[in-house]
This record gives sequence, structure tokens and C-alpha cells, in this order.
Amino acid sequence: MSERIGIVTGGGDCPGLNAVIRAVTKAAAKRGWETIGFLGGYEGILEPQRYVALDYQKLGSLLTRGGTILGTANRGRFSAKVGHGETRSLPQELIDGVKAGMQKLNIRGLVSIGGDGSLSIGQQLFEGGVPLVGVPKTIDNDLEGTVMTFGFDSAVACATDALDRLHTTAESHNRIMVLEVMGRYAGWIAIYAGVAGGADVILIPEIPFSYGSILTKVREREMADKHFTLIVVAEGAREKGGEFVTSGKQVSNREARLGGIAATVAAELEERTGKEARACVLGHLQRGGSPTSFDRALCTIFGAEAVELIAAEKFGHMVAYQGSGVGSVKITEAVGKLKTVPPEGGFVRTARALGICLGE
Ligand code: F6P
Repeated sequence: MSERIGIVTGGGDCPGLNAVIRAVTKAAAKRGWETIGFLGGYEGILEPQRYVALDYQKLGSLLTRGGTILGTANRGRFSAKVGHGETRSLPQELIDGVKAGMQKLNIRGLVSIGGDGSLSIGQQLFEGGVPLVGVPKTIDNDLEGTVMTFGFDSAVACATDALDRLHTTAESHNRIMVLEVMGRYAGWIAIYAGVAGGADVILIPEIPFSYGSILTKVREREMADKHFTLIVVAEGAREKGGEFVTSGKQVSNREARLGGIAATVAAELEERTGKEARACVLGHLQRGGSPTSFDRALCTIFGAEAVELIAAEKFGHMVAYQGSGVGSVKITEAVGKLKTVPPEGGFVRTARALGICLGE
């Protein structure tokens, strides 16, 4: 029987998952290894097993295709997150089940593609004896240990395009336009897209905002004969002393579903300025569609590097983009602590230097 590796995608989907699957499969085939793709996240490894043998000769169009051909899950027995910053311990029978599933298929190493939640689970599996390496995925870019996760650049491109579109309609109608972007408790998408899309106001979770500061900005613009204002707000942003805005019912043992801050901000500003304000929620559009060229390249490098890690038996490691190139870090260095936007970091300083209002 030829050597085999496994691959699994977990957590929320994002552009580039298929590009990683393609790269892993191709790099494994180059070594003469077969790649097994488990379906529906880690669950596919357990009995009754659900998987497909990935034949790299037949992997057409995966580089550009959104979503994941393997399916994914951010709920259920393998979900790690139970609340803001809290991680669940995996029951021993699930760890044993994964080990047994891997042994049954004679898999020498598992590539786990995921964000903080899936890789926290991955770390527990590794500690329980599963030979596993990680690939950092999330549009939120909130994983430590890597300068960038894949999927982030594609989400920023989507949010920037939305800002460009809102810009012209805001200007035509002399309105305040508030765009809500994802990112959970990190403001990376908002700050990158806000700077790239020429937003006048950028509100991020790391800097609680005051309406007074935003009103000053709107008034300054009016005085300068600019009768519209473009605002980007991260879903996890909140007013100083205020709470996160959530949508839907809070389900116990699950992370809060953030959403609705744009509507709150728009209503408040309309009330206080007398100008028309509109909210737009970009939502899951940021997670769909083709990856950008940057993400395609990053995914391909990540996938090839993950196979190298398995060959070197560097289990418990995650591939990482380190600015000058791709290397690896221990998974423990990446999970369990959110990488948030430093309030005195480069992007924030750039925003301040340009006179962009951060709600301070
Ligand atoms: O972590 C990725 C992410 O898209 C967050 O930005 C967002 O808060 C969350 O997932 C949405 O999750 P769901 O798809 O379960 O609504």
C-alpha cells in the first residue's frame, strides 16, 4: 500500500481552502503519497468514516474555487469555542476515535486546515498522539504565530470593493454610509479595507469609540464641502463602556454571533446629525468566491510546506507566513490568544496620519 496522508478542513469556510487542498495533494503525489480528504471536518475520521481519495490528476479548478470540496463544520462535537476566549477540552473517546480512524487508513500524518478553534482541537489531538500539522485559515487574521492567515486578503478585497461602491452612492445622495465587516473580536478586515477603500471613519474592537468623535469628523467634512461620510465598522466594535452588538439568540456553549453594529451606528448618527444614514452588512460575501492572487500563492506555499512538515515529522507545528517567507511555529504559539490590531501599530498610525477618524 502506498504511503498516505490525510487532510481535513474545519471551522468557518473561506476563500483558498480548495487551493490548499490542491497544493497538499500535488506535493504529496510528488513524493508518491496518496491524500485522503476527510469530509465534514474531524467528524469524517470517526466511524462511520467519510472520506474521498484525492487524485491530483483529477483536481480541476481547485485553485480558484471558493468554499471547500471537503465540507466543514464550526459546530458539533469538534467545535472548540464555547464563549469569548474559552476553549473546550476534547473528550478522550473522540481523541481515541480519531487515532483509530487514522490507523485504520494507515495515515502517516494529518493536515488540519483551520483557525483558532480547529487548531486548538488539532493541538489536543496531537497531544493525544495524533500526528498532525496545521495550516492557518481565517478571514479574521486573528491567529498568532503567522503574519497573515489565508482568506484574509480575499475578505479585505471584498470589503474594499464594497467601500468603493458605497463611496459613489454616498456621494450622490449626500449620505452617511456605514459598512459592517466581519472579523469577530479583531479589527483587521476593517482597518485594512478602511485604509484601502478610503473610509473617513474606521471603528475597530481594539479602540472603543465615542459618537462625539464621529460627529466631529462628519461636521469637519461638511465644512470642507464634503456632504457624505464613509464609515467602516468591524462587527466586534463597540461604544466606550458599551456591549458587543449581537444578532440572533445566544445559544449556550457557543460563541456569541456578532452583528448589527452598523445599524446601531447609522441610527444614532442620523438622529444626531439630521443627515440620512444607511447601514450595509457585508456578511458572508466576505467568505465566498475565488481567492485573490495573493491568497492563491499563500495557499499554495502553505500546502506544499505542510507536506514538508509531515515528511520531516514536525508534528504539532503549523505552517506560518513570516513576512520574508514561510516557516513553521508550534501550534501552541498560535492558538488560545487572539492576535488583535495593535492600537499603536503601523496601520492605525497610518490611519491617524491621514486624518481618518478612529472614534477615539
Ligand atoms: O471566523 C470567521 C467568521 O466569518 C467571523 O468573522 C464571523 O463572526 C463568524 O465567522 C460568522 O460565523 P457563522 O458563519 O457561523 O455565522
